Amino acid sequence: MLLYDKYLRSTKNLYSGNDDLFASVYCSNVLPSAEKSPIEPLLIAASVLGIILLYFIASLIRHQRRNVKLNQEKIEAEIITLENERRRIAADLHDEVGPMLSGIKLMISSLEVENDSDRDRIIKVKEYIDDSIKRMREISNNLLPAVLEKRGILEALQQLFVEYQKIHGIMIQFSYDENISLSSQRQLHLYRIIQEILHNTIKHAHAKILRVELLMNNKNISLYTEDNGGGFDKLDRSNKGKGLGMRNLHSRAELLSGNLYIESAPSKGTRITLNFPNHEQDSHTKS
Ligand SMILES: Nc1ncnc2c1ncn2[C@@H]1O[C@H](COP(=O)(O)OP(=O)(O)OP(=O)(O)O)[C@@H](O)[C@H]1O
Ligand SMILES: [Mg+2]
Repeated sequence: MLLYDKYLRSTKNLYSGNDDLFASVYCSNVLPSAEKSPIEPLLIAASVLGIILLYFIASLIRHQRRNVKLNQEKIEAEIITLENERRRIAADLHDEVGPMLSGIKLMISSLEVENDSDRDRIIKVKEYIDDSIKRMREISNNLLPAVLEKRGILEALQQLFVEYQKIHGIMIQFSYDENISLSSQRQLHLYRIIQEILHNTIKHAHAKILRVELLMNNKNISLYTEDNGGGFDKLDRSNKGKGLGMRNLHSRAELLSGNLYIESAPSKGTRITLNFPNHEQDSHTKS
């Protein structure tokens, strides 16, 4: 019995000792963590800030993309308006001014005059009228080449090159794939791009030779041009904003969903490459 009492006391001591131990363990685990708690709001604040920052960056990117798209749509609309205006002026010149001039020539031809000096004058006036009709046709054709719509880009380009070689004395080496076929809107963009390259070659490069290649594989059409003229410094800021030609070149390349590369340096000539898909892509079908 004495032994049993001793046992009970010793186990009670043991347990009471453990209570202290438990209390100390509990305090060291729970209370200190309650002291660390200011970190939690900091973490939450940092996460919220991170989310706000991400949201801000995402909306900035979205805003920029929307701006680029709006700008592109504005340029597309400008180009379409420009082409419509050109078409209207070309049609007015061809259908109204042309017949008017021919009528005047006919009336003058029917005049009967007695003396030689008047006859010479009439001949001179008829020559002026012929020159005016010819010039008017050139302007009208430049505005919208009839051959482009009737016979397609290859014949239109050949005609353009023959004319430029004759007038400006430049040699144009043109190689192409016979079976290139494009929608009328897309061939007009391509024609305008080549026309602008040609204008710049005459106006700025003063080149003797211009090489033009128009090739097609089943997926892509590639245009490559190279002149042996003066070239220019692409980084020279004084060239920027001088004219509309280069800007329109890029815009039309985009309308064709294509990539345009311009390579040039002073006295090294200019090389221009344009690659675009053979078929219209969804984003530009309206062009
Ligand atoms: N083939 C080229 N050779 C040399 N310089 C060129 C050539 N193409 C363009 N440039 C330079 O780039 C500049 C910008 O050309 P861009 O076609 O945009 O304007 P522009 O021809 O002066 O005017 P616009 O095309 O509106 O009539 C030109 O002023 C010229 O200095
Ligand atoms: Mg130009």
